[in-house]
This record gives sequence, structure tokens and C-alpha cells, in this order.
Amino acid sequence: MAINKKIKELQEKREQMFRGGGEKAIEKQKALGKRTARERIMALLDENSFNEYDLFAEHEARDFDMDKKSLPTDGVIIGSGTIYGAPVAVFAQDFTVAGGSLGLMHSRKITKIMDHALKMRMPLIGINDSGGARIQEGVNSLAGYGEIFFRNTISSGVIPQISVILGPCAGGAVYSPALTDFVFVVDNISKMFITGPEVIKTVLGEEISMEDLGGAQVHSEITGNAHFFATSEEECFDQIKKLITFIPWNNSLKAKPFEQGEPNPEFNINKIVPEDPTLPYDVKDVIRAIVDFSDFFEIMELYAKNIVIGFGRMGGRTIGFVANQPLEMAGVLDVDSSDKAARFIRYCDAFNIPIITLVDLPGYLPGVDQEHAGVIRHGAKVLYAYSEATVPKLTVIIRKAYGGGYIAMGSRHLRADFVFAWPSAEIAVMGPEGAANIIFRKEIMSSDDPDGMRKQKIDEYKAKFANPYVAASRGYVDAVIEPSETRRLLLHSLAVSENKSIQMPDKKHGLPPF
Ligand code: HXC
Repeated sequence: MAINKKIKELQEKREQMFRGGGEKAIEKQKALGKRTARERIMALLDENSFNEYDLFAEHEARDFDMDKKSLPTDGVIIGSGTIYGAPVAVFAQDFTVAGGSLGLMHSRKITKIMDHALKMRMPLIGINDSGGARIQEGVNSLAGYGEIFFRNTISSGVIPQISVILGPCAGGAVYSPALTDFVFVVDNISKMFITGPEVIKTVLGEEISMEDLGGAQVHSEITGNAHFFATSEEECFDQIKKLITFIPWNNSLKAKPFEQGEPNPEFNINKIVPEDPTLPYDVKDVIRAIVDFSDFFEIMELYAKNIVIGFGRMGGRTIGFVANQPLEMAGVLDVDSSDKAARFIRYCDAFNIPIITLVDLPGYLPGVDQEHAGVIRHGAKVLYAYSEATVPKLTVIIRKAYGGGYIAMGSRHLRADFVFAWPSAEIAVMGPEGAANIIFRKEIMSSDDPDGMRKQKIDEYKAKFANPYVAASRGYVDAVIEPSETRRLLLHSLAVSENKSIQMPDKKHGLPPF
């Protein structure tokens, strides 16, 4: 056969594979507003950068007439490419081929690209659209999932792992995403659940739609399984591309420096926090007043809104922000916000991203619900994550820093490298009202004018403790600063911390309270 003929034969074989599960299945996919697996990869990666591996992989299943079934690509496309020039490894499950179900060869393709990503120390992006373990392949499918989960765990903290949920993800299909760093979902398209509506109906007799059980909004607002919510696949891919610009390719590198620029003057840092300490404000405006170009990339925007996490840049370098949000429940720490913050702090620490903490909280949320939901265990995660983190840690106390909240939010005592406080800071064991009611109870009760006495004692307590100067006099706060000095001092502190080096005691690993 002449070489040209062989080339033509290759082209035809490729074309055949590119057709995936066939026209009808593709039509069904499109009718749901979904792209095909191949289209998704092309939309995500830089033009002409995708190199595919194992296009001709075939399954070897024999039971249930599987020997008569050809499954192009075995339902998953793998390869590597670039995003804005950054190398990435990718897999995309093809729902048009046996519902993207995971058989042995399908799993081997995924583990091959996972091994490749780990060896080459590059980010891994998995596009998930799957009915779960391929039922006809029995224990081989379960083995495949186990191999994937193991690699997710081993790669954790070494390379960034990103999961994109673009269809139903049932059974085993959800646990790999849950082990990765960031999960992206799209409204009306993404579904994640362990047991689907049919099983729930059979076992529990309850009717529920896939959307209400595990749709994009459920996982973004209620469960906290998803980190980024989009209304279309296109918006979702834009979010992934943006994330890639903020993070390093692996844990031995820093994120690539970016163009530097001043914040937008529209965010006037002197005017954000109200004079009246009982009034709320949006802490994201403070972040935008500090970061380059006022560009703040928020993570888990819809979940546990009482804490804000995300990336911004200062002097062109990526910074992780953790900030109490006075707009939501006065910015308290509770079970969910503790989980959200602690995990992000550990992410930043694993990937050499300095952490800036903005503090304004009345403490941990009191109540039976919180206590019974394990606020002790979850709250301890924040203490653990900050204490363990060795990246530069910079803290700015904006207003309230009471009780456990003061300690937990990146305090000096958990080894913050720099702690600044604004003149509006109030640092004490608890709020003046609660404190006065407890320590001056006898005086208040025995007074002829209990209300007047209470007010007098509250004012005394405020004058003594509700300010930053007591903490500053002990060196717990390094400097009391004007809000307008914040960016300059943080930039200076980051520059000073560039080569921070500390030794932790030798151990196999610690036991964080999870
Ligand atoms: C084999 C599967 C499959 C599966 C779907 N298909 N899921 N084949 N194994 N798990 C096939 C269908 O037979 C069908 O093939 C094609 O994919 C499209 O599926 P439909 O059902 O027509 O699509 P749709 O109506 O959109 O429903 C999608 C779905 C549903 C909700 C995902 O297919 C479904 O419920 N599948 C099973 C989900 C599940 O229970 N998975 C858990 C597996 S156990 P044809 O040839 O007709 O086109 C598991 C345990 C692992 O994962 C635990 C590890 C920790």
C-alpha cells in the first residue's frame, strides 16, 4: 500500500472515532444544551494545542453481548494541550458512548493521563459526564474507580486537579471530583449524586428530580461540593481558563507573575467601612481596593457567604484572600464557613500562594444547631490550617476580632508574619455588651438604675478593650495603620516574605480534625 493510502486509511479511522456514539446520541446531547466531549476539549484548550492519546483504545468486555459492541474511544478522550500557554492534561468523558460509563479500558485511559500529569508535574482537568460504573463490566469498573481515587489522592497537593461536571455524574463518578481541588458546575447541566432518584424512590419511596437532588445550584449553595457556578458551558470554560492563570503548574513552582496595576480608584478604601460599627459593608470592596486592577476571582461565591475566599494579585503575584463578610451573619465563623476557609488555606499553602486575611467577626456562631453539627471539630480546622501553613501569612484586622474568632483568623499566635490593624479594630475576648453583662453582673443587678449602670459598664469596657492599642502594646499587632496605607504595607510585607523559610518538626503527617 502506498504511504498516501495508509495516511488516508488513518484519516478515515480517526474520522470514525471522532463520530463518538453516532448522530442520534450526539443529537440527544445537543438537545440538552451540551457540547460533545471533543468540542469541549477544543473550547477549553488553546487553538491547535490538543494532542490526543489512545484514540483507538478498545474494551475487552465479553459479558452481556459486550463482545458485539464497539465503543469508540471507549467513551473517554484523553490528551494534553495548553491554556494560555500553560501545559495541562485533560480527559473528557463522552456521554454519547455508553453514557460515558466507566469500564476497565475507560478507566485505564483516565489513569494513564493522570500518571502522565503527575510525572510531568502539570495540572489535570477532568471533564465528567458519566452514568458511573459500567454495569456490564462488573468489578472491573469498580477496580477502575479505585485506581482513579488512589491517583487523585497521591497527586493531591502536587499538581492542581480540576473537575468539570458537565452532565449526570452518578455513583462512583462523583468521588473523583470530590477528591480534586476545584469543581466546576453549570446550571441545568451538572448533576452529582451517589444514588439517583430511581434508587431513592425504590428504597425510601420518595420522589425527587435529579435537579433537586444534586443539580448545580444544590452543590454550589447547599453541599459546598462545587467551587464555581456558571450558567453555560462557555462561561464555565472561561472560569477554568482564568483559574489556570492564578495557580502554579505544580507545588514546586510559584504562580506565573502577571502584569501589575493599581486598583480602580472607584474602590475608596477610606470610605468602605461605616463610622457606626454596627453597620455592615461588603468586604469584597476592601479586597478590590487592595488588589491589582481591582480584579478579585472569588471561589465558592454562593456557599457559606459569611466568609469570602478567592484569588487576587498584588504586584503581579497571586495572593489567596480569606475575609469575614460582615454582610452575611455579621461574618461569624460557623461549621460551613470554617470548612470553606480551612480547605482554601491548605490549598494556598500546598501551592506556594501567600495568604492575606481580613478580619471582622464577632466570633464563632453560638447555638445548639452549631454545637450539634460539630462546630468544635469544624472550627478547629481553621486553627489547624493556619497553624500548619508555612507560606507568607499577612493579616489585617479591620474591625471586630472577638474571642476565638480573633485567634482563628490568622492571628500572630498561629504565626502570622505580619499583623496590621486599622484604628477601627476592636480586639477583645467578647463584645462589650456580653462582657459587661458577665463581669459586672453584680454591680448591674444591685444598682438602682440597672440599665444606666449596664450602659456605663459597657462604655467602660469599650474604652478599655474595644480598640487595637492593647494588642499593639503587646506586639500581637505589628502596626496600627490608616486604611489608605494598607496596600503599600502589604506589598512591602509580601516583598519581605519572598524568601520566607521555616522548618516544621519531622512527622509522617498530622491529624487535622476532618
Ligand atoms: C452502562 C450505562 C450506564 C452505566 C448509562 N448507560 N449509565 N451503561 N453502565 N452505568 C447507558 C444507557 O444504557 C444508555 O445506553 C446510554 O448510556 C444513555 O443512558 P440513558 O439512560 O439513555 O440516558 P439518560 O436518560 O440521560 O440518563 C442518564 C442517567 C442514567 C441518569 C445517568 O443512564 C442512569 O441512571 N444510569 C445509571 C446511573 C447509576 O446508577 N450509576 C451507578 C453505577 S454504580 P443505550 O445503549 O441505550 O444508548 C457505581 C458504583 C461505583 O458507580 C462506586 C464507587 C465508589
